Amino acid sequence: MDLRSYRQQYNKGELDRDSLEASPFDQFEKLFTQAKQAGVTEPNAMTLATADQRYGADARIVLLKEVLGEKFIFFTNYLSAKGRQLAACPHASLLFWWPPLETQIRIRGDVRQTDSFESDSYFNVRPHDSRAGAIASHQSQIVENYDQLIARFEELKAMKNEELIRPKHWGGYELAPIEFEFWQGRPNRMHDRFLYQWDGGKWVINRLSP
Ligand SMILES: Cc1cc2nc3c(=O)[nH]c(=O)nc-3n(C[C@H](O)[C@H](O)[C@H](O)COP(=O)(O)O)c2cc1C
Repeated sequence: MDLRSYRQQYNKGELDRDSLEASPFDQFEKLFTQAKQAGVTEPNAMTLATADQRYGADARIVLLKEVLGEKFIFFTNYLSAKGRQLAACPHASLLFWWPPLETQIRIRGDVRQTDSFESDSYFNVRPHDSRAGAIASHQSQIVENYDQLIARFEELKAMKNEELIRPKHWGGYELAPIEFEFWQGRPNRMHDRFLYQWDGGKWVINRLSP
């Protein structure tokens, strides 16, 4: 594959220091609203990067389900690859890329499991069949017998909603940001980048070189 001629000029917006919100959460919310208005499909789809001892970084997409009390919350299986990685190394990076805005947002922080009340309350508003799927799936494990997996899923689907209880190994994680970077594509690769860092008492903002 030769992709050397793939080239895009970025010119949809700009970021300047004076227009930034003092709180990166407010800045995130402002841009999230713009992404929705610009028709981004699933603006809450974010790349979650975790790490393990074996190969270092590992990344996949998950859905942001809530920003609550300055925490970014997503849901998954605690026994999945990401779950095991987060148990060993409870730090992660989140990444959003919204092409219609030419905006990238990077967030780094510490991660921990949400309390069971938060996990239950989200599990219980999921559609019935997604609940069945979450119970049926041993996420990230090798499937020895696919027919058995589907049979189990069908069996769960046929059950009543109230019988589909959240398994203890399925629930939320909350990432508490210590750093945000807002990146806005600009012509000629002279992109605008602003880094917010938590210094223990307030958010400090600096411009980064493109
Ligand atoms: C658009 C999109 C949204 C996804 N949302 C989630 C999610 O919210 N939770 C989740 O566990 N997996 C989600 N996945 C699947 C993950 O990318 C991944 O395949 C799965 O979580 C297993 O990852 P792991 O083996 O690294 O633990 C999503 C995938 C895509 C493409």
